[in-house]
Amino acid sequence: VGKINIAIDGPAAAGKSTISKKVAEHFNYIYIDTGAMYRAVTLHTLRNGMDVLDDLSLLDIRLTPLPDQKVFVNDEDVTAEIRSMEVNQNVSRVSSLQVVREFLVSMQREIAKDKGVVMDGRDIGTTVLPESELKIYMNASPEVRAERRFIEEQKKGIEIDMRTLTEQIRKRDEQDKNRALSPLRKSEDAIFLDTSYMSIEEVTSKIIHLAEDTI
Ligand code: C5P
Repeated sequence: VGKINIAIDGPAAAGKSTISKKVAEHFNYIYIDTGAMYRAVTLHTLRNGMDVLDDLSLLDIRLTPLPDQKVFVNDEDVTAEIRSMEVNQNVSRVSSLQVVREFLVSMQREIAKDKGVVMDGRDIGTTVLPESELKIYMNASPEVRAERRFIEEQKKGIEIDMRTLTEQIRKRDEQDKNRALSPLRKSEDAIFLDTSYMSIEEVTSKIIHLAEDTI
């Protein structure tokens, strides 16, 4: 059977990466977390200043294969650090820049050119891989998304109250939806999934079935 590309887009904390990993593992596909790439560039600018964007050819970003996808910037493992509050608060600003998007989108297209990729992000169905055989737009209510993120932060030992978290998610979504370049939006041909009242297993098997119908 032929391989397909699966594009999974949606707002922050909708469950995209959890589900995408499971779908990729099921089909033995490559999983690409494009948010991690934007986070890695953001971390690099926070440490070294915005001038690093003048020559992005010096920046090597690498995602390792599943099961435990790690993120490397110039051979340093930044997997944990790209999830920091400081990166959360700056990633939308850095992601709105044309140089950053051009650099990462071309990497993403290169990785996906032979198909067999599950890619999650904000603009995969609309811009990065508009020819994807299956496109999903995943959302959940703001309350459910904040709660899911809250549990994740607690597991990492990070103290943050629900109100701050809800506000941070809301602000990031607003920035991502309203930017000029490839804003977050559902591609017309994407299948909409509200995961508010669905378990991880339900969402995963739904997408696997949709993919099987396409392959
Ligand atoms: O998916 P995650 O929440 O880790 O993404 C972090 C940020 O990276 C998003 O809020 C958005 O600003 C940016 N992003 C993007 N385009 C993508 C993926 C992420 O602009 N395809």
